Amino acid sequence: MDPAETFATLMSPEGRLDPYPAYERLRAHGPVVQTGPGVYAVTGYPEVDELLRDPRMRVSDDQWRDMMLPQWRDSPALSTIARSMLETNPPDHSRMRRLAAGAFTPRRIAAMRDVVAAQADELIEAMASAGRGGRPVDFMADFAYPLPVAVICALLGVPAADRPLFRRWAADLTGVLEPEITWDELVVADAGATELVGYFTELVAARRRRPADDLTTALVQAHDAGDRLTGDELLANLVVLLVAGFETTTNLLGNGLAVLLAHPAAADVLRRHPEHAPAYVDELLRYDSPVQLTSRTSSETLRAGGVELPAGSWVLLLLGAANRDPRRYPDPARFDPWRALLSPLSFGAGPHYCLGAGLARLEGQVAFTRLLHRLPALALSGTPRRRSRLTLRGYETLPVTVGELAPVAD
Ligand code: HEM
Repeated sequence: MDPAETFATLMSPEGRLDPYPAYERLRAHGPVVQTGPGVYAVTGYPEVDELLRDPRMRVSDDQWRDMMLPQWRDSPALSTIARSMLETNPPDHSRMRRLAAGAFTPRRIAAMRDVVAAQADELIEAMASAGRGGRPVDFMADFAYPLPVAVICALLGVPAADRPLFRRWAADLTGVLEPEITWDELVVADAGATELVGYFTELVAARRRRPADDLTTALVQAHDAGDRLTGDELLANLVVLLVAGFETTTNLLGNGLAVLLAHPAAADVLRRHPEHAPAYVDELLRYDSPVQLTSRTSSETLRAGGVELPAGSWVLLLLGAANRDPRRYPDPARFDPWRALLSPLSFGAGPHYCLGAGLARLEGQVAFTRLLHRLPALALSGTPRRRSRLTLRGYETLPVTVGELAPVAD
């Protein structure tokens, strides 16, 4: 199969459900391959890392969007994402990122540990009671969705009662992060974006009237203090913070739990040695990455992995494939938290490196150690169902039985 055919397989429903065989077929042609006119796919770890850090590789700009998808300005979903830091290049990117980064200091993230632990315990106890008598519960609906949404809402200052609104809106909007999207999916994503922008417009007005100790207030004040963040940018970044911080972490929890349940001996070591949680979470992030890809456009001609990328190429950086590059990770399809070298590319690299990486790692570490400790008999029950998404890889449902609830040790 040539790279173009393999790429088409990757985009197909089967490829979205299990992209790993297609990654290996692409890799067989080299770490960087052309998959269509002006389109390249990168599967190698050093090549993805290097390209993400290269200032000549830009996230899509307005000119590129006008050419590829002229109607993007009329799409609430595409224009919201386009105005956020995720899809902005320097100098605007550096300005926005600096303003938001103030809220993600290591001290502030460490202070979230108690919030995360309390939320995790509450959800575990609710699952234990819903699953009494061996009744299966859906780990996605009952834990993997509500935990990150509670954490990001606490950070942004969204009232607890409004959290259930976000699952649907955010899940609909993230369709635009796929490398290919149908018209129907765009209509759904637009509806989600409209709801989210409407919600944050009201929250911003409320915080302007009555400031609070939250990230929304901090960003509102950055906007009001001068022309440092425009009104559109303020809303776009709030929406992206919510969306970027939510479903990604949900997928770390879902994908990660499925791997742990499939490797009971390794899970048992973590249950007895919670101090190894950081290495486990990094290996789970590597093994089945919650974000499988991102893309860049080359602003000038450059070379990577021995291949020339002409100016204007669209380059797909397959993070999930780079994380299984055998040159960096021997026997990459094996789950092994004791690898000497981890640092997976799951949070990207370079100027757009995930702003919430510390928070996401913390959520994973707290969640997995508490789940294993408090629900020692947790087990899969039935067949999990994947979402048909390539970029944000995760489960739709993950049925489990929970067994008896163990008391809190600390
Ligand atoms: C950016 C992954 C959790 C906020 C990114 C990028 C990746 C990523 C790969 C870079 C995208 C690119 O280069 O094009 C993940 C994963 C997460 C996670 C796998 C969970 C396991 C979070 C959380 C937050 C967050 C919890 C916020 C609370 C952001 C933001 C950006 C970003 C704001 C854009 C940064 C920029 O453009 O400068 N994330 N993320 N993420 N992430 Fe995360």
